[in-house]
Amino acid sequence: MNKFIKLPVILSTITFLTSGLLMLSESATHEKIAEQKKLLLLTSLEQLIPPHLHDNDLTVNTREINEENLLGHRQVQTVYVGTLNDIITVVAIPVTARNGYSGDIDIMVGIKSDGEITSVKILEQHETPGLGDLIVAHKSDWIKQFPEQSFNTVQQKDWKVKRDGGQFDQITGATISPRAVTMAVKKALLYHQHHFTANHNKEKIETKKEKKP
Ligand SMILES: Cc1cc2nc3c(=O)[nH]c(=O)nc-3n(C[C@H](O)[C@H](O)[C@H](O)COP(=O)(O)O)c2cc1C
Repeated sequence: MNKFIKLPVILSTITFLTSGLLMLSESATHEKIAEQKKLLLLTSLEQLIPPHLHDNDLTVNTREINEENLLGHRQVQTVYVGTLNDIITVVAIPVTARNGYSGDIDIMVGIKSDGEITSVKILEQHETPGLGDLIVAHKSDWIKQFPEQSFNTVQQKDWKVKRDGGQFDQITGATISPRAVTMAVKKALLYHQHHFTANHNKEKIETKKEKKP
């Protein structure tokens, strides 16, 4: 083969093979992240919907929602519903904070029927190690200020970080990430208030029972 043709052919082949390998490795990484996220969710569910508050199979009682405006979702997400004797006791609501320092922060908020938070879990985040990632439970205690809080203990207008005049601590030198999570948790509480209050709960159960033969 003419050397003027041979070199470009070799270079194109190398480029083609390299980009193919990169694509394969990228798709494998995405799959791995998705798998890890699912595993984390399943282990987190135990804290979001504690065993003493449900007698149902959490993987069966689910609702698919896609609430871009209310909960920042970018795709269909799963709400996990805990029930005791067919009455909803706790729900785990997924919410995406789109205003993290480094993009989206995927969060799950466990909320009891009376509006009290059981737990808040960060499922995926890309915040800076040692700064924004202190929002994650095993990196600092910051997120532990949410359990047992509700709109009864902290008024809606105060559901902000202290830097913004609210009641929740921020993280020194990294207010952006805590602000994003705090606002997202508030969104989950508001969503719960509108979709899972006592009346709505009763309505759903009755609808479900009517369908039984
Ligand atoms: C390289 C770098 C990475 C940063 N990463 C984060 C982060 O992950 N989360 C965050 O809230 N702030 C981060 N910050 C700080 C923000 O730019 C901002 O200054 C801070 O959130 C404001 O908080 P403060 O008002 O408490 O200083 C980072 C800053 C730099 C220079």
